[in-house]
Amino acid sequence: MNLAPPKGTDDILSPDSRAWRRVLRSWDSWSERFGFELGMTPLFEATELFERGVGESTEVVRKQMYTFEDRAGRSLSLRPEGTASFVRAYLNAGIRGVWKASYSGPMFRYEKPQKGRRRQFFQVGAEVIGTESPEVDAEIIELAYRFLLDVGVPAVVVEINSLGDPSDRSAYEAVLVTWLNDRIDRLCADSVETLAINPLRVLDCKVCREVTMGAPTPVEMMSPTAKEAYETVKQRLTLLDVPYRENPRLVRGLDYYTRTAFEYIATGLDAAQNAVGGGGRYDGLGEKICGRAVPGVGVALGIDRIILAMGDPVLPPSTEAFVVAAPGFSDEAAIVVSRLRGEGSKVETVFGGRSLNAQTKAAAKTAVAVIITVGEGYAQGQVTYRELRSGAETQVSIEEISQCLKP
Ligand code: HAM
Repeated sequence: MNLAPPKGTDDILSPDSRAWRRVLRSWDSWSERFGFELGMTPLFEATELFERGVGESTEVVRKQMYTFEDRAGRSLSLRPEGTASFVRAYLNAGIRGVWKASYSGPMFRYEKPQKGRRRQFFQVGAEVIGTESPEVDAEIIELAYRFLLDVGVPAVVVEINSLGDPSDRSAYEAVLVTWLNDRIDRLCADSVETLAINPLRVLDCKVCREVTMGAPTPVEMMSPTAKEAYETVKQRLTLLDVPYRENPRLVRGLDYYTRTAFEYIATGLDAAQNAVGGGGRYDGLGEKICGRAVPGVGVALGIDRIILAMGDPVLPPSTEAFVVAAPGFSDEAAIVVSRLRGEGSKVETVFGGRSLNAQTKAAAKTAVAVIITVGEGYAQGQVTYRELRSGAETQVSIEEISQCLKP
């Protein structure tokens, strides 16, 4: 049997997984600091949820969903994104008022696989449901920006735009369609197809950039209230010291966006895959799903791309110390290991009754900084504490080991 994972998916293993762990922990920490509780929704949902929510005209729903029938004949799809599920969950739970949820997990899209474009990819995200306040848009943009800085994604640019209210958006779409139809003979075949299904997305086509450069933008046709909201978002970002660049052509690939839309561009990556995150406001999504209007705004970031942008940093293993046992002291060593782990230290050991020399060699191979030898001194509550870099060796009391290990 072929042991490679399915096309477009990856086994994420050590040492690469060290960077993943760091990124996931950072997201956990930042989202918690911003007041987000953890939320978890199923990996698959009724296909209808995504057709209604993400939109039947989007590429994601038309071409990229993993859809299957279960044994009872229901049409289900692996989730291509998380937002529709969170709005469904909010409505299903009968929650009223403002609700904040952060999440992380795999998403599935049948893409043409390449670097940074996977069929199973990993997102972290955050959604605030139940408020129209534009200050919250700015807070969401700030959260993801702080997180990207913390994990060390270099040269991140935050791009923002407003798509206006739903009525502004339909009026804009009509104007754009006329404008594009006047230039249809200069559009590529893909854009001609997109124009008939999802005209806003033609603005995303890199091949047609020169043609669409002068196209009307949504901002020009916004209602005064949507304009005011957009101004508030921008003022707040300035106040919060989050640099941004307005991109009036930013339209996003999912149908549910109204008003604020934004993306995080890692300028060091290839243009086709340099969006490390994106999001926006989706005040019409609840209505699309089940007829109940509920405002919301959120963001999702692609970890696969973030790791690429970080340039695969070589991170040290997290193990702080290796415990080895002198002959006859393996039970005592196990007690020391258990105690240190209980105190919060990250320690490893070798099992299988190997000689002290073999254990020490195995420990040195792991690039660990400290080796603790449990032997004769144990009866007096002492172990040998050796720092590998300096070679310094001291007797330390068992009570003090955790203290010594603290950086
Ligand atoms: P999205 O822009 O489709 O938005 O995806 C967000 C991020 O997921 C992208 O910026 C990218 O980094 C990553 N991503 C998307 N597709 C792939 C792929 N095939 N391979 C690797 N990475 C990928 C959403 O999913 C919305 N749910 C975001 C949102 C949350 N809007 C409001 N709330």
